[in-house]
Amino acid sequence: MSYDLIVIGTGPGGYVCAIRAAQLGLKTAVVEKRKTHGGTCLNIGCIPSKALLHASHMFQDAQHFADMGIGVSAPTLDLKKMLEFKQEGVDGNTKGVEFLLKKNKIDAFIGTARISAPGQVEVTAEDGSNQVLETKNIVIATGSDVTRLPGIEIDEKVVVSSTGALELETVPKRLVVIGAGVIGLELGSVWRRLGSEVTVVEYLDRILPGMDGEVAKNFQRILSKQGFAFKLGAKVTKVEKTGNGATLTFEPAAGGTPETIEADVVLVAIGRVPYTQGLGLDKVGVQLDNRGRIQTDAHFSTNVTGIYAIGDVIVGPMLAHKAEDEGVAVAEILAGKAGHVNYDVIPSVVYTFPEVASVGKTEEELKAAGIAYNSGKFPFTANGRAKVNKTTDGFVKILADATTDKVLGVHIVGPEAGNLIHEAAIAMEFGASSEDMARTCHAHPTLAEAVKEAALAVEKRAIHM
Ligand code: FAD
Ligand code: NAI
Repeated sequence: MSYDLIVIGTGPGGYVCAIRAAQLGLKTAVVEKRKTHGGTCLNIGCIPSKALLHASHMFQDAQHFADMGIGVSAPTLDLKKMLEFKQEGVDGNTKGVEFLLKKNKIDAFIGTARISAPGQVEVTAEDGSNQVLETKNIVIATGSDVTRLPGIEIDEKVVVSSTGALELETVPKRLVVIGAGVIGLELGSVWRRLGSEVTVVEYLDRILPGMDGEVAKNFQRILSKQGFAFKLGAKVTKVEKTGNGATLTFEPAAGGTPETIEADVVLVAIGRVPYTQGLGLDKVGVQLDNRGRIQTDAHFSTNVTGIYAIGDVIVGPMLAHKAEDEGVAVAEILAGKAGHVNYDVIPSVVYTFPEVASVGKTEEELKAAGIAYNSGKFPFTANGRAKVNKTTDGFVKILADATTDKVLGVHIVGPEAGNLIHEAAIAMEFGASSEDMARTCHAHPTLAEAVKEAALAVEKRAIHM
């Protein structure tokens, strides 16, 4: 069998790339080693975590129905049913991808792919059978895997990665999370809402590194109010399993007296690493960078002609939508079009309550780059809709170039932040100024009015503050 394109991996990068290539007339196949399509995101990442975040948020909200005059008996938790709800959502999504691949006449092979030579992909099925596929081009979209802590074994029962944390059969009384990044705070929120005492141990002296510092500080306060405990600037040195849990030892990152903490479950969430195992890259000579990512040029090409790479396995934020946009771009490039991704405008969202969302540069990045900027901030306490909904934690912050007023970054902590951020993304994609955003009529009463007011605040003329 000979193809124009074989995509290895059907995560958001791979399956989207295959569909776009097929739309453009390329004879396309995908190879996926998992039994279902959708990659990390649909099977063990974005989708199951959002299902549990939604369900646990409902569970918590139901405890406050009486405040709105809604009389219901106290909600009870059927965790098994909640996990089934999550799995139904996952199945619906992975089946959706299978349908889309068929609809676009993409051949899908289930098995592990190895690049035996440029233009040749060997597929080994679970039963050990082999076949070799010929192709003009290969796109590697094999994603990423959990980063492990040296000397700390993940058994997915007591010491879990995100995968195990999506499957716990009982609510742990004490959950200790190692790493105050996106996974730690999202999955920590799920189990906190369902009743766990959650302690987060983080190496740095702040949470959510990479996010705007003021946003992270404010968000940490909100999470602390929700019952999260934080041990910042702390280095975990040991996790010892006990009869029914584990003892964690940590010490100040800069060195000092060690402390211990007991946990029923420990979640290791210290980042992810690119996944290239078994692909045969050394044999075909594909270069990796010093962090194990596949090195690519501006057109997603590796150093070997006809082999491309996208998504978590290359440089850049490990986000599903970044992988998808790269998938579209590389497919368009292969079809002779001008595929392109604007890395300056990639939104990122933490799906907690409230949500945290960001696009463009943080204050720290602008300061480091020596760019003069004006900042406009508006709190949700002054937004009518947030007030009436009693969801007033957080604010919108807009950073605009001091000379041109071009919007350089927007950062939101607050209700619906993950939806609100897209107004800013569109504005930035079109090179808008804060004045453009401020002069755009926003419907009342909406949370989006806080974005308009933050834009007005850049020139100190917010109305409701
Ligand atoms: P992946 O989705 O990892 O897919 C790679 C696929 O390649 C896998 O299916 C794998 O089985 C397959 N594969 C690997 N090697 C081979 C081989 N040799 N042969 C055949 N197949 C192979 N991102 C967001 O944007 N929003 C979120 O809300 C979000 N939530 C997340 C929550 C969790 C718990 C986790 C772990 C991640 C989350 N992410 C989220 C990150 C997101 O999942 C990744 O950025 C995204 O999946 C990357 O897509 P990808 O296509 O590059 O790789
Ligand atoms: P992360 O990079 O977001 O956070 C890891 C945290 O662990 C950092 O704060 C880091 O300082 C800390 N850390 C590292 N080593 C440590 C150690 N030894 N001890 C204590 N702390 C340590 O990684 P995370 O949360 O594992 O997520 C992985 C990736 O998945 C992220 O890059 C993110 O892009 C993606 N993701 C995205 C989501 C979203 O978009 N909503 C949700 C979940 C994951």
